[in-house]
Amino acid sequence: MTSEEYHVFQEFLKQSCGIVLGPEKQYLVRSRLTPVLKEFHLKSFKDLLRLLNKPSIQSKRLMIRVIDAMTTNETSWFREKAHFLELEEAILPRLITNQSRKLRVWSAACSTGQEAYSLSICIDQFLKQQPSAITQDIDIIGTDISENAIKVAKQAEYPEMAITRGLGKAARAGFFDQIHGGYKLKTEISNRARFQQFNLLKPMTVLGQFDIIFCRNVFIYFSEQIKKDILRRMAEILKPKGVLFLGRTEAMPSDLKAFQVIDGHHCQYYQKTD
Ligand SMILES: C[S@@+](CC[C@H](N)C(=O)[O-])C[C@H]1O[C@@H](n2cnc3c(N)ncnc32)[C@H](O)[C@@H]1O
Repeated sequence: MTSEEYHVFQEFLKQSCGIVLGPEKQYLVRSRLTPVLKEFHLKSFKDLLRLLNKPSIQSKRLMIRVIDAMTTNETSWFREKAHFLELEEAILPRLITNQSRKLRVWSAACSTGQEAYSLSICIDQFLKQQPSAITQDIDIIGTDISENAIKVAKQAEYPEMAITRGLGKAARAGFFDQIHGGYKLKTEISNRARFQQFNLLKPMTVLGQFDIIFCRNVFIYFSEQIKKDILRRMAEILKPKGVLFLGRTEAMPSDLKAFQVIDGHHCQYYQKTD
C-alpha cells in the first residue's frame, strides 16, 4: 500500500462512516484488509480502491465488508455500570409512570447488542419493582453501521466468553437460557429491542423521537466537527427533557448549547435544553 493509496483510503473511511484514521494506522488497515482482498479475489490495495469507486453490486458488498473490517466492535454487558444505575434510580422513575406513554430508547452504535439488551434488562428490573407502571409501550432500537454486528445482535445468542464480560452468574441464570455453545436471551428481554443497520452520518429523523439515547464509545473515532454535527442532530430527535449518555472518555463540545450537563448521583449525563 503506497502512502497515496493510504491517503485515499483515509478519505473514503471518513466520508463513508466518519472514522478518522491517523497516519500511524497504516499497519492496522493493511492487516484488517488483507483477508478482504482474498475474499474478493483482489490482487492489490489499488484494485480494492478501484472497485470501491465503481457503482456496482459487487462494490456495495465490498463497501459493507470493508466497513465491517474497519470498525471496532468492542463492547460488554452493563459497560460503565454507573450509567445503568443512574437510569434505574433517577431517569426511569421520571419517564415510566402509570400514565400511558410510549418510552423510546436508542442505543446508537450498539455493536453486537449488549448495550441495547443491558438497557432492556435494566428496564425490566425497574418494572418489576414498579408493578403499577405501564409496561407494554417500551421500544428499544439498537443501530450500528456494521451489518455483521447487527446480525449478531438480532440473534441474541452469545458464547460463554461474551457473556462473562459484565454479567454475573445470577444475571446469566435470570435472563438467559443455556444453549449449545453459549446462552440465548430470554424472549421477554430480547422482544423489547429491535435492531437495524444505520450510519450516524445519515439523517436521523427516520428513526423517530427518543426519550433516551445511549451513544457511547464511538465518538472517539470521529473528528470534533463530525461529532458536533451528530450531537446537534441527536438533540433534534430527543423529546423535551430527553437524555443522552456518552462514553466516559467522550466530552460534550463546550460550545454546543443543545444540551445541558446533569450531575447525577452516579455519573454525568446530558439533557436536551428547553
Ligand atoms: C467500540 S463500539 C461501542 C459499542 C457500545 N456503544 C459500547 O459502548 O459498548 C463502537 C461501534 O460504533 C460503530 N460505528 C462506527 N462508526 C459508525 C457510524 N458512522 N455509524 C454507526 N455506527 C458506527 C462500530 O461499528 C462499533 O460497533
